[in-house]
Amino acid sequence: MTGSSLTPTPHSVDISLTGRCNLKCTYCFYANEMTALSDLPTATWLACFEELGRLNVMEATLSGGEAFTRPDLFELIDGVIANRMRYSILSNGTLITDRTLEQFAVGKRRQRLNYVQVSIDGSRAKIHDASRPKSFTRAVRGLRLLKEAGIPVTVRVTITRHNLHDLENIAALLLEDIGLSSFSTNDAIPMGSGCQNEAEVALGPREQYEAMQIMGRLLERYPGRLNAQAGPQAKIQMYAEMEHARRTGEKTTRWGMGRLTACGCTFSKLAILHDGTRDTGCGLKAFRAEAAEKIFSLTRIDRFAFDIEVLYLVERQRMSLSEVPVQVANSQRTTVRVVRDTARLLRDLLRIRVLARNGVYDLAESSPDPASAVGSPAA
Ligand SMILES: C[S@@+](CC[C@H](N)C(=O)[O-])C[C@H]1O[C@@H](n2cnc3c(N)ncnc32)[C@H](O)[C@@H]1O
Ligand code: SF4
Repeated sequence: MTGSSLTPTPHSVDISLTGRCNLKCTYCFYANEMTALSDLPTATWLACFEELGRLNVMEATLSGGEAFTRPDLFELIDGVIANRMRYSILSNGTLITDRTLEQFAVGKRRQRLNYVQVSIDGSRAKIHDASRPKSFTRAVRGLRLLKEAGIPVTVRVTITRHNLHDLENIAALLLEDIGLSSFSTNDAIPMGSGCQNEAEVALGPREQYEAMQIMGRLLERYPGRLNAQAGPQAKIQMYAEMEHARRTGEKTTRWGMGRLTACGCTFSKLAILHDGTRDTGCGLKAFRAEAAEKIFSLTRIDRFAFDIEVLYLVERQRMSLSEVPVQVANSQRTTVRVVRDTARLLRDLLRIRVLARNGVYDLAESSPDPASAVGSPAA
């Protein structure tokens, strides 16, 4: 994949270092089958960082699960730094102690740190703990420790039915009491445990609208101090810009707004899961004719999970797969609907497992076929 003529490889990489976590949030997308995958060992991650460094990747965002559950976290951070990258950490904040601050002070760890993001979902324990059980006191303690030590820290508030009516108090706690310069919001998407608890957690259309109004008021009260790439706040900001453009004829300032565009992630980001899997959904795949014949005579899925079924079959047939750079041209024809398509994707993943168990993918003769499939690096 080519990012642009300036950077042929991704600028930044999102890395899930672990599937482990000390909490069980009611909406966590990193639950169920994700936690069943095993974590890559230290040496494999260090080798991966060397490769990213050679590819001139500039930034790594370290997440999970909970990154601070890894006893080797600071060794891994040193690996990131040794390969000339900057880094950020996404955390639930509960495992951050004075010892953590001492660790950040070693070598260039502090210098190369962009920020630590702590998740806070309520202004008080009752509300925060409704989605992040028994963690408010420890999360706020971790947040305050980082802030007081002068470590760049930000907060993500995930909006749910639990905290919808607490958003104004949360903003006051974070911006006025704790004194953060800003924080960001999104909303709980029904994925992972958020799927099982959708009715309890996820915003319905009425709550979405109410959340947009509340965030609109907060944006006026705290100009420039609230950020969002998704969720009710991003929507209210986008609609306000569109309305302004409609009334005045002025062009919007947001990138790509008013035109059909693709998600910018494909041009600058790569995601790596904690078991080493890269993003399977994006990217282009090319096959030699014999390989295509063999693989596509066995496929059963014709929706989004077809990539995963194809990769599964390539692995099963012991064909080799290599990643090569390609030039991407955007198509405006595909439309993804997150809720509908995610549910379908999960159903199809289950179907692949059932088909495999039932022997549908078995070939009478299956011989290794070297150098037969080529995939683009995931976007
Ligand atoms: C997966 S967590 C990993 C980092 C850390 N354990 C934490 O909770 O911040 C990263 C962020 O994703 C958010 N998140 C998790 N599940 C989500 C979901 N289903 N919808 C929206 N955001 C979600 C969390 O609230 C958190 O801010
Ligand atoms: S959202 Fe973060 S803290 Fe909560 S269960 Fe998921 S990984 Fe753990």
